[in-house]
Amino acid sequence: MLFAPSEEHEAVRRRIRELAEKEFRPRAAAYDESGEFPHENLKLLVEGGFIGMNLPEDYGGAGLDTLSHTICVEEIARCCAATAVAFEVHNTLHSETIAHFGTEEQKRIYLTALAAGERIGAFCLTEPGAGSDAGAVKTTAKLSPDGGTYVIEGQKCFITNGGVADLYLVFAMTDPSKGSKGLTCFIVEKGMPGLSFGKPENKMGIRASHTTDVFLDQVPVPAANRLGNEGDGFKIAMSALDAGRIGIAAQAIGIAQAAYEASVIYAKERVQFGKPIAELQAIQWMIADMATDIAAARLLLYRAAELYEQPGRHTAEIAMAKLKCAEVAMRHTVKAVQIHGGYGYMREYGVERLMRDAKITEIYEGTSEIMRVIIAASALR
Ligand code: CAA
Repeated sequence: MLFAPSEEHEAVRRRIRELAEKEFRPRAAAYDESGEFPHENLKLLVEGGFIGMNLPEDYGGAGLDTLSHTICVEEIARCCAATAVAFEVHNTLHSETIAHFGTEEQKRIYLTALAAGERIGAFCLTEPGAGSDAGAVKTTAKLSPDGGTYVIEGQKCFITNGGVADLYLVFAMTDPSKGSKGLTCFIVEKGMPGLSFGKPENKMGIRASHTTDVFLDQVPVPAANRLGNEGDGFKIAMSALDAGRIGIAAQAIGIAQAAYEASVIYAKERVQFGKPIAELQAIQWMIADMATDIAAARLLLYRAAELYEQPGRHTAEIAMAKLKCAEVAMRHTVKAVQIHGGYGYMREYGVERLMRDAKITEIYEGTSEIMRVIIAASALR
Protein backbone atom coordinates (compact mmCIF):
# COMPACT_ATOMS: atom_id res chain seq x y z
CA MET A 1 0.00 0.00 0.00
CA LEU A 2 1.25 3.45 -0.91
CA PHE A 3 -1.13 5.72 1.04
CA ALA A 4 -0.69 8.07 -1.89
CA PRO A 5 -3.36 9.58 -4.12
CA SER A 6 -3.37 8.38 -7.74
CA GLU A 7 -3.78 10.61 -10.80
CA GLU A 8 -7.58 10.07 -10.54
CA HIS A 9 -7.51 11.25 -6.94
CA GLU A 10 -5.51 14.32 -7.93
CA ALA A 11 -8.08 15.05 -10.66
CA VAL A 12 -10.81 14.99 -7.99
CA ARG A 13 -8.66 17.31 -5.88
CA ARG A 14 -8.26 19.79 -8.75
CA ARG A 15 -12.02 19.84 -9.35
CA ILE A 16 -13.01 20.39 -5.71
CA ARG A 17 -10.19 22.88 -5.11
CA GLU A 18 -11.35 25.01 -8.03
CA LEU A 19 -14.89 25.08 -6.66
CA ALA A 20 -13.79 25.73 -3.07
CA GLU A 21 -11.33 28.48 -4.02
CA LYS A 22 -13.80 30.24 -6.29
CA GLU A 23 -16.98 29.90 -4.28
CA PHE A 24 -16.30 28.90 -0.66
CA ARG A 25 -13.19 30.84 0.32
CA PRO A 26 -14.60 34.30 -0.54
CA ARG A 27 -17.74 33.67 1.55
CA ALA A 28 -16.19 31.86 4.54
CA ALA A 29 -15.60 34.93 6.73
CA ALA A 30 -19.13 36.26 6.17
CA TYR A 31 -20.66 32.88 6.99
CA ASP A 32 -18.51 32.72 10.13
CA GLU A 33 -19.69 36.19 11.15
CA SER A 34 -23.40 35.62 10.49
CA GLY A 35 -23.63 31.97 11.50
CA GLU A 36 -25.99 31.51 8.56
CA PHE A 37 -26.06 27.93 7.17
CA PRO A 38 -24.11 27.75 3.86
CA HIS A 39 -27.05 26.55 1.72
CA GLU A 40 -25.44 28.07 -1.36
CA ASN A 41 -22.26 26.03 -0.88
CA LEU A 42 -24.21 22.81 -0.36
CA LYS A 43 -26.18 23.53 -3.54
CA LEU A 44 -22.91 23.86 -5.48
CA LEU A 45 -21.65 20.60 -3.97
CA VAL A 46 -24.84 18.91 -5.16
CA GLU A 47 -24.50 20.40 -8.66
CA GLY A 48 -20.83 19.36 -8.82
CA GLY A 49 -21.73 15.74 -7.97
CA PHE A 50 -19.79 15.85 -4.68
CA ILE A 51 -22.82 15.17 -2.48
CA GLY A 52 -23.27 11.42 -2.70
CA MET A 53 -19.86 10.92 -4.33
CA ASN A 54 -19.10 8.08 -1.87
CA LEU A 55 -22.48 6.35 -2.26
CA PRO A 56 -23.15 3.31 -4.48
CA GLU A 57 -23.88 3.97 -8.14
CA ASP A 58 -26.97 1.72 -7.95
CA TYR A 59 -28.62 4.40 -5.82
CA GLY A 60 -27.43 7.41 -7.79
CA GLY A 61 -24.09 7.97 -6.02
CA ALA A 62 -20.78 8.32 -7.84
CA GLY A 63 -19.26 5.21 -6.19
CA LEU A 64 -15.92 6.94 -5.56
CA ASP A 65 -13.54 5.58 -2.94
CA THR A 66 -12.93 6.83 0.59
CA LEU A 67 -9.66 8.52 -0.35
CA SER A 68 -11.45 10.62 -3.00
CA HIS A 69 -14.03 11.64 -0.41
CA THR A 70 -11.30 12.37 2.14
CA ILE A 71 -9.52 14.65 -0.34
CA CYS A 72 -12.77 16.51 -0.97
CA VAL A 73 -13.44 17.11 2.73
CA GLU A 74 -9.82 18.29 3.12
CA GLU A 75 -10.09 20.74 0.22
CA ILE A 76 -13.49 22.08 1.32
CA ALA A 77 -12.17 22.60 4.88
CA ARG A 78 -9.10 24.40 3.49
CA CYS A 79 -11.54 27.11 2.37
CA CYS A 80 -14.57 26.74 4.67
CA ALA A 81 -14.50 24.32 7.60
CA ALA A 82 -18.20 24.83 8.38
CA THR A 83 -19.21 23.67 4.90
CA ALA A 84 -16.86 20.69 5.24
CA VAL A 85 -18.62 19.31 8.33
CA ALA A 86 -22.13 19.76 6.92
CA PHE A 87 -20.95 17.85 3.82
CA GLU A 88 -19.07 15.19 5.76
CA VAL A 89 -21.89 14.37 8.18
CA HIS A 90 -24.38 14.09 5.31
CA ASN A 91 -22.16 11.85 3.18
CA THR A 92 -20.67 9.58 5.84
CA LEU A 93 -22.37 9.49 9.27
CA HIS A 94 -25.83 9.61 7.73
CA SER A 95 -25.90 8.37 4.13
CA GLU A 96 -23.09 5.82 4.18
CA THR A 97 -24.68 4.27 7.28
CA ILE A 98 -27.94 3.73 5.40
CA ALA A 99 -25.92 2.31 2.49
CA HIS A 100 -24.26 -0.20 4.84
CA PHE A 101 -27.16 -1.18 7.05
CA GLY A 102 -30.35 -0.28 5.16
CA THR A 103 -32.83 -2.67 3.63
CA GLU A 104 -33.36 -2.59 -0.13
CA GLU A 105 -36.50 -0.53 0.39
CA GLN A 106 -34.79 1.94 2.76
CA LYS A 107 -32.00 2.41 0.23
CA ARG A 108 -34.44 2.90 -2.63
CA ILE A 109 -36.49 5.46 -0.72
CA TYR A 110 -33.83 7.31 1.24
CA LEU A 111 -30.41 6.69 -0.28
CA THR A 112 -31.40 7.80 -3.77
CA ALA A 113 -32.70 11.11 -2.39
CA LEU A 114 -29.59 11.54 -0.21
CA ALA A 115 -27.22 10.76 -3.11
CA ALA A 116 -29.03 13.32 -5.26
CA GLY A 117 -28.82 15.94 -2.51
CA GLU A 118 -32.61 16.24 -2.53
CA ARG A 119 -32.57 15.41 1.17
CA ILE A 120 -29.88 16.25 3.73
CA GLY A 121 -29.00 13.93 6.60
CA ALA A 122 -27.99 14.20 10.27
CA PHE A 123 -26.81 11.74 12.94
CA CYS A 124 -28.41 11.87 16.39
CA LEU A 125 -26.43 9.91 18.97
CA THR A 126 -25.29 12.49 21.55
CA GLU A 127 -27.54 13.48 24.45
CA PRO A 128 -27.07 15.81 27.41
CA GLY A 129 -26.03 12.77 29.52
CA ALA A 130 -24.48 10.66 26.72
CA GLY A 131 -21.47 12.25 25.06
CA SER A 132 -18.24 10.24 25.22
CA ASP A 133 -20.30 7.57 27.01
CA ALA A 134 -22.34 6.86 23.89
CA GLY A 135 -24.00 3.79 25.41
CA ALA A 136 -25.73 5.90 28.09
CA VAL A 137 -28.51 7.08 25.75
CA LYS A 138 -31.79 7.79 27.57
CA THR A 139 -34.02 8.30 24.53
CA THR A 140 -36.44 5.38 24.27
CA ALA A 141 -38.32 3.70 21.43
CA LYS A 142 -41.38 1.62 22.33
CA LEU A 143 -42.95 -0.73 19.82
CA SER A 144 -46.75 -0.53 19.50
CA PRO A 145 -48.71 -3.71 20.35
CA ASP A 146 -49.45 -4.29 16.65
CA GLY A 147 -45.71 -4.12 15.89
CA GLY A 148 -46.18 -1.45 13.21
CA THR A 149 -44.83 1.66 14.91
CA TYR A 150 -42.16 2.71 17.39
CA VAL A 151 -42.84 5.73 19.57
CA ILE A 152 -39.63 7.67 20.26
CA GLU A 153 -39.25 9.90 23.29
CA GLY A 154 -36.16 11.85 24.27
CA GLN A 155 -33.70 14.63 23.52
CA LYS A 156 -30.53 14.78 21.44
CA CYS A 157 -28.01 17.60 21.55
CA PHE A 158 -25.10 19.08 19.53
CA ILE A 159 -26.59 17.69 16.32
CA THR A 160 -24.76 18.81 13.18
CA ASN A 161 -27.22 19.81 10.41
CA GLY A 162 -29.94 19.98 13.10
CA GLY A 163 -33.07 21.66 11.76
CA VAL A 164 -31.54 21.94 8.28
CA ALA A 165 -31.56 18.20 7.60
CA ASP A 166 -34.57 16.36 6.23
CA LEU A 167 -33.59 12.95 7.64
CA TYR A 168 -32.24 12.01 11.10
CA LEU A 169 -30.61 8.77 12.19
CA VAL A 170 -31.85 8.57 15.77
CA PHE A 171 -30.37 6.13 18.30
CA ALA A 172 -32.86 5.09 20.98
CA MET A 173 -33.13 2.37 23.63
CA THR A 174 -35.56 -0.40 22.73
CA ASP A 175 -34.42 -2.37 25.80
CA PRO A 176 -32.79 -0.12 28.42
CA SER A 177 -32.09 -3.14 30.65
CA LYS A 178 -29.45 -4.29 28.16
CA GLY A 179 -27.40 -1.07 28.24
CA SER A 180 -25.62 -0.35 24.97
CA LYS A 181 -26.86 -3.70 23.60
CA GLY A 182 -30.42 -2.34 23.88
CA LEU A 183 -29.74 0.53 21.48
CA THR A 184 -31.53 0.66 18.12
CA CYS A 185 -31.22 3.03 15.15
CA PHE A 186 -34.16 4.65 13.31
CA ILE A 187 -34.58 6.83 10.24
CA VAL A 188 -36.73 9.75 11.37
CA GLU A 189 -38.11 12.21 8.86
CA LYS A 190 -38.50 15.94 9.40
CA GLY A 191 -42.24 16.57 9.56
CA MET A 192 -43.04 13.49 11.63
CA PRO A 193 -45.32 14.63 14.48
CA GLY A 194 -43.45 15.48 17.70
CA LEU A 195 -40.05 16.11 16.07
CA SER A 196 -38.71 19.61 16.74
CA PHE A 197 -35.42 21.49 16.95
CA GLY A 198 -33.70 23.93 19.29
CA LYS A 199 -32.19 27.15 17.99
CA PRO A 200 -28.74 26.92 16.41
CA GLU A 201 -25.99 26.97 19.07
CA ASN A 202 -23.79 30.09 19.19
CA LYS A 203 -20.43 28.37 18.70
CA MET A 204 -16.75 29.28 18.98
CA GLY A 205 -15.95 27.96 15.50
CA ILE A 206 -17.49 26.27 12.45
CA ARG A 207 -20.17 28.84 13.15
CA ALA A 208 -22.05 28.44 9.88
CA SER A 209 -22.63 24.72 10.41
CA HIS A 210 -25.90 24.40 12.28
CA THR A 211 -25.76 22.58 15.61
CA THR A 212 -29.02 22.15 17.49
CA ASP A 213 -30.93 20.14 20.04
CA VAL A 214 -33.36 17.64 18.54
CA PHE A 215 -36.50 16.98 20.58
CA LEU A 216 -38.51 13.80 20.13
CA ASP A 217 -41.89 14.08 21.81
CA GLN A 218 -43.71 10.77 21.30
CA VAL A 219 -42.64 10.64 17.64
CA PRO A 220 -44.39 7.75 15.82
CA VAL A 221 -41.88 6.09 13.49
CA PRO A 222 -42.92 3.19 11.22
CA ALA A 223 -41.23 -0.09 12.13
CA ALA A 224 -40.04 -0.17 8.50
CA ASN A 225 -37.76 2.77 9.40
CA ARG A 226 -35.71 0.74 11.88
CA LEU A 227 -32.14 0.45 10.59
CA GLY A 228 -30.83 -3.04 11.32
CA ASN A 229 -32.25 -5.15 14.14
CA GLU A 230 -33.24 -4.13 17.63
CA GLY A 231 -30.04 -3.95 19.68
CA ASP A 232 -27.77 -3.29 16.67
CA GLY A 233 -27.67 0.46 17.35
CA PHE A 234 -24.38 0.71 19.25
CA LYS A 235 -22.45 -1.24 16.62
CA ILE A 236 -24.11 0.76 13.84
CA ALA A 237 -23.11 4.00 15.61
CA MET A 238 -19.50 2.86 16.13
CA SER A 239 -19.22 1.66 12.55
CA ALA A 240 -20.65 4.98 11.28
CA LEU A 241 -18.10 6.83 13.41
CA ASP A 242 -15.26 4.90 11.76
CA ALA A 243 -16.24 6.60 8.49
CA GLY A 244 -17.08 9.91 10.14
CA ARG A 245 -13.78 10.19 12.00
CA ILE A 246 -11.85 9.90 8.74
CA GLY A 247 -13.92 12.87 7.59
CA ILE A 248 -13.12 14.90 10.70
CA ALA A 249 -9.40 14.09 10.36
CA ALA A 250 -9.62 15.35 6.77
CA GLN A 251 -11.38 18.51 7.95
CA ALA A 252 -8.56 19.06 10.47
CA ILE A 253 -5.85 18.62 7.83
CA GLY A 254 -7.63 21.06 5.52
CA ILE A 255 -7.72 23.66 8.31
CA ALA A 256 -4.04 23.03 9.16
CA GLN A 257 -3.05 23.33 5.49
CA ALA A 258 -4.85 26.67 5.23
CA ALA A 259 -3.02 27.93 8.33
CA TYR A 260 0.32 26.78 6.91
CA GLU A 261 -0.25 28.41 3.52
CA ALA A 262 -1.35 31.70 5.10
CA SER A 263 1.73 31.65 7.35
CA VAL A 264 4.15 31.10 4.44
CA ILE A 265 2.63 33.97 2.46
CA TYR A 266 2.62 36.32 5.45
CA ALA A 267 6.17 35.43 6.53
CA LYS A 268 7.49 36.36 3.08
CA GLU A 269 5.58 39.64 2.99
CA ARG A 270 5.95 40.95 6.53
CA VAL A 271 9.09 43.03 6.98
CA GLN A 272 10.61 43.56 10.45
CA PHE A 273 14.20 44.40 11.39
CA GLY A 274 14.71 45.38 7.74
CA LYS A 275 13.90 41.99 6.20
CA PRO A 276 10.95 39.60 5.67
CA ILE A 277 10.27 37.68 8.89
CA ALA A 278 10.67 34.49 6.78
CA GLU A 279 14.41 35.13 7.09
CA LEU A 280 14.25 34.87 10.89
CA GLN A 281 15.10 31.44 12.21
CA ALA A 282 12.35 31.61 14.85
CA ILE A 283 9.77 31.82 12.06
CA GLN A 284 11.55 29.30 9.84
CA TRP A 285 11.42 26.70 12.60
CA MET A 286 7.70 27.19 13.10
CA ILE A 287 7.13 26.83 9.34
CA ALA A 288 9.34 23.72 9.23
CA ASP A 289 7.42 22.10 12.10
CA MET A 290 4.11 22.91 10.42
CA ALA A 291 5.18 21.40 7.10
CA THR A 292 6.53 18.25 8.77
CA ASP A 293 3.60 17.64 11.12
CA ILE A 294 1.00 18.22 8.41
CA ALA A 295 2.78 15.83 6.02
CA ALA A 296 3.01 13.15 8.73
CA ALA A 297 -0.62 13.55 9.84
CA ARG A 298 -1.80 13.46 6.21
CA LEU A 299 -0.05 10.11 5.75
CA LEU A 300 -1.94 8.68 8.74
CA LEU A 301 -5.14 10.10 7.26
CA TYR A 302 -4.63 8.57 3.82
CA ARG A 303 -3.62 5.28 5.42
CA ALA A 304 -6.89 5.30 7.39
CA ALA A 305 -8.87 6.07 4.21
CA GLU A 306 -7.24 3.15 2.39
CA LEU A 307 -7.56 0.73 5.33
CA TYR A 308 -11.25 1.61 5.72
CA GLU A 309 -11.90 -0.17 2.42
CA GLN A 310 -10.05 -3.32 3.46
CA PRO A 311 -11.90 -6.17 5.21
CA GLY A 312 -12.07 -6.10 9.00
CA ARG A 313 -12.26 -3.26 11.49
CA HIS A 314 -9.67 -0.49 11.50
CA THR A 315 -11.05 1.60 14.35
CA ALA A 316 -7.67 2.08 16.05
CA GLU A 317 -5.88 3.21 12.87
CA ILE A 318 -8.74 5.61 12.18
CA ALA A 319 -8.54 6.90 15.76
CA MET A 320 -4.79 7.48 15.30
CA ALA A 321 -5.48 9.55 12.19
CA LYS A 322 -8.20 11.60 13.88
CA LEU A 323 -6.11 12.17 17.00
CA LYS A 324 -3.01 13.25 15.10
CA CYS A 325 -4.76 15.40 12.49
CA ALA A 326 -6.87 17.22 15.12
CA GLU A 327 -3.88 17.93 17.37
CA VAL A 328 -1.77 19.09 14.43
CA ALA A 329 -4.59 21.40 13.32
CA MET A 330 -4.94 22.90 16.80
CA ARG A 331 -1.20 23.30 17.43
CA HIS A 332 -0.43 24.86 14.08
CA THR A 333 -3.40 27.18 13.83
CA VAL A 334 -2.17 28.64 17.14
CA LYS A 335 1.30 28.96 15.55
CA ALA A 336 -0.22 30.62 12.49
CA VAL A 337 -1.78 33.29 14.71
CA GLN A 338 1.60 33.71 16.42
CA ILE A 339 3.43 34.16 13.11
CA HIS A 340 0.86 36.80 12.10
CA GLY A 341 1.42 38.60 15.44
CA GLY A 342 -1.12 41.33 16.25
CA TYR A 343 -2.64 41.02 12.79
CA GLY A 344 -3.30 37.35 13.45
CA TYR A 345 -5.51 38.31 16.37
CA MET A 346 -7.72 40.42 14.11
CA ARG A 347 -10.69 38.86 12.32
CA GLU A 348 -9.69 40.49 9.03
CA TYR A 349 -6.69 38.17 8.53
CA GLY A 350 -8.73 34.97 8.86
CA VAL A 351 -6.17 32.89 10.78
CA GLU A 352 -7.97 33.34 14.10
CA ARG A 353 -11.02 31.75 12.42
CA LEU A 354 -8.87 28.74 11.55
CA MET A 355 -7.79 28.50 15.19
CA ARG A 356 -11.42 28.63 16.38
CA ASP A 357 -12.49 26.11 13.72
CA ALA A 358 -9.66 23.70 14.58
CA LYS A 359 -10.71 23.26 18.22
CA ILE A 360 -13.85 21.25 17.51
CA THR A 361 -11.86 18.57 15.64
CA GLU A 362 -10.38 17.58 19.02
CA ILE A 363 -13.90 17.21 20.43
CA TYR A 364 -16.59 15.98 18.07
CA GLU A 365 -17.02 12.48 16.65
CA GLY A 366 -14.97 11.33 19.66
CA THR A 367 -12.66 13.49 21.74
CA SER A 368 -8.87 13.12 21.59
CA GLU A 369 -9.13 11.37 24.96
CA ILE A 370 -11.58 8.80 23.54
CA MET A 371 -9.26 8.33 20.54
CA ARG A 372 -6.47 7.48 23.01
CA VAL A 373 -8.80 5.06 24.84
CA ILE A 374 -9.49 3.26 21.55
CA ILE A 375 -5.81 3.19 20.53
CA ALA A 376 -4.67 1.98 23.96
CA ALA A 377 -7.36 -0.75 24.05
CA SER A 378 -6.09 -2.02 20.71
CA ALA A 379 -2.43 -1.79 21.70
CA LEU A 380 -2.96 -3.56 25.02
CA ARG A 381 -5.38 -6.22 23.77
N1 CAA B 1 -17.65 -1.08 14.49
C1 CAA B 1 -18.46 -2.12 14.82
N2 CAA B 1 -18.62 -2.56 16.11
C2 CAA B 1 -17.90 -1.94 17.05
C3 CAA B 1 -17.02 -0.88 16.77
C4 CAA B 1 -16.90 -0.46 15.43
N3 CAA B 1 -16.09 0.54 15.10
N4 CAA B 1 -16.45 -0.45 17.92
C5 CAA B 1 -16.94 -1.23 18.89
N5 CAA B 1 -17.81 -2.14 18.36
C6 CAA B 1 -18.54 -3.19 19.08
C7 CAA B 1 -17.56 -4.08 19.84
O1 CAA B 1 -17.11 -5.15 19.03
C8 CAA B 1 -18.41 -4.59 20.99
O2 CAA B 1 -19.21 -5.65 20.54
P1 CAA B 1 -19.41 -6.98 21.45
O3 CAA B 1 -20.04 -6.47 22.74
O4 CAA B 1 -20.32 -7.84 20.67
O5 CAA B 1 -18.06 -7.55 21.69
C9 CAA B 1 -19.35 -3.40 21.27
O6 CAA B 1 -19.35 -2.59 20.08
C10 CAA B 1 -18.87 -2.56 22.42
O7 CAA B 1 -17.55 -2.17 22.14
P2 CAA B 1 -16.57 -1.59 23.23
O8 CAA B 1 -16.58 -2.53 24.39
O9 CAA B 1 -15.28 -1.24 22.60
O10 CAA B 1 -17.37 -0.29 23.64
P3 CAA B 1 -17.25 0.60 24.88
O11 CAA B 1 -18.53 0.63 25.58
O12 CAA B 1 -16.00 0.29 25.65
O13 CAA B 1 -17.14 2.06 24.13
C11 CAA B 1 -16.13 4.05 23.35
C12 CAA B 1 -16.33 2.62 23.83
C13 CAA B 1 -14.99 3.92 22.40
C14 CAA B 1 -15.79 4.98 24.50
C15 CAA B 1 -17.40 4.54 22.63
O14 CAA B 1 -18.46 4.72 23.53
C16 CAA B 1 -17.14 5.80 21.85
O15 CAA B 1 -16.64 5.77 20.73
N6 CAA B 1 -17.51 6.99 22.45
C17 CAA B 1 -17.41 8.25 21.74
C18 CAA B 1 -18.72 8.59 21.13
C19 CAA B 1 -18.59 9.59 20.02
O16 CAA B 1 -17.67 9.53 19.22
N7 CAA B 1 -19.57 10.47 19.94
C20 CAA B 1 -19.60 11.40 18.87
C21 CAA B 1 -21.02 11.71 18.56
S1 CAA B 1 -21.35 12.02 16.93
C22 CAA B 1 -20.89 13.60 16.62
O17 CAA B 1 -20.02 14.20 17.19
C23 CAA B 1 -21.70 14.07 15.58
C24 CAA B 1 -21.70 15.22 14.79
O18 CAA B 1 -22.77 15.65 14.47
C25 CAA B 1 -20.43 15.77 14.19
